Amino acid sequence: MIAPSILSADFARLADAADSVSRADWLHVDVMDAHFVPNLTIGLPVVKSLHAATDVPLDCHLMIDDPDRWAPGYAEAGAANVTFHVEAAADPVQTARAIRKAGALAGLSVKPGTPLEPYLEVLREFDTLLVMTVEPGFGGQEFRAEVLPKVRLAREHVRAGHLRLFVEVDGGISADTIEQAAEAGADVFVAGSAVFGADDPAAAVEALRRRARTAMNV
Ligand code: DX5
Ligand code: ZN
Repeated sequence: MIAPSILSADFARLADAADSVSRADWLHVDVMDAHFVPNLTIGLPVVKSLHAATDVPLDCHLMIDDPDRWAPGYAEAGAANVTFHVEAAADPVQTARAIRKAGALAGLSVKPGTPLEPYLEVLREFDTLLVMTVEPGFGGQEFRAEVLPKVRLAREHVRAGHLRLFVEVDGGISADTIEQAAEAGADVFVAGSAVFGADDPAAAVEALRRRARTAMNV
């Protein structure tokens, strides 16, 4: 699946941005609170309005403190998938259950420096694992291939039947990097600047999809 990140779109024209990638699988919405990350973006009211304005399922990536308190609200607002950071959560399992109860898929995200092994058991309560391939906070950063062993580890656990997860990568995904991520076992690819920085965002989505499929042999 390809999930264009609206962080690289025109925030005054989000509905148009969504329209421009109407064949995308998910629309990735980066929620930042200027505490968990040094940047501030959008919150619940915008997610609600965007949900009403597009048929593309919303993939909310919460880069915020206290996700235990706020994450279920994004599911109630209509997000298809709500991902929060393990580094910020007090009780990831309870929060995942609350997200699912509100009708969304639940996702857990790890920053580049956060290991995966301590969370393999907790991930049984989740639908999505988001492996950050840049330090969260800003678009347009360089892809960090050194985190791909975490993607491989997650994929092995899925293949072995220990986990049932989408394995999503976020940060620096482009035509040059998507194949490495797909070969490592990712199946959801967030791309901000590579999509909304392109002259034709819809064509960029299809080009990324083709490259990922080739690398995954599907
Ligand atoms: C960064 C965000 C990403 C960002 C990716 O903290 O989580 O979703 O939009 O942007 P690119 O694809 O430009 O690296
Ligand atoms: Zn993101």
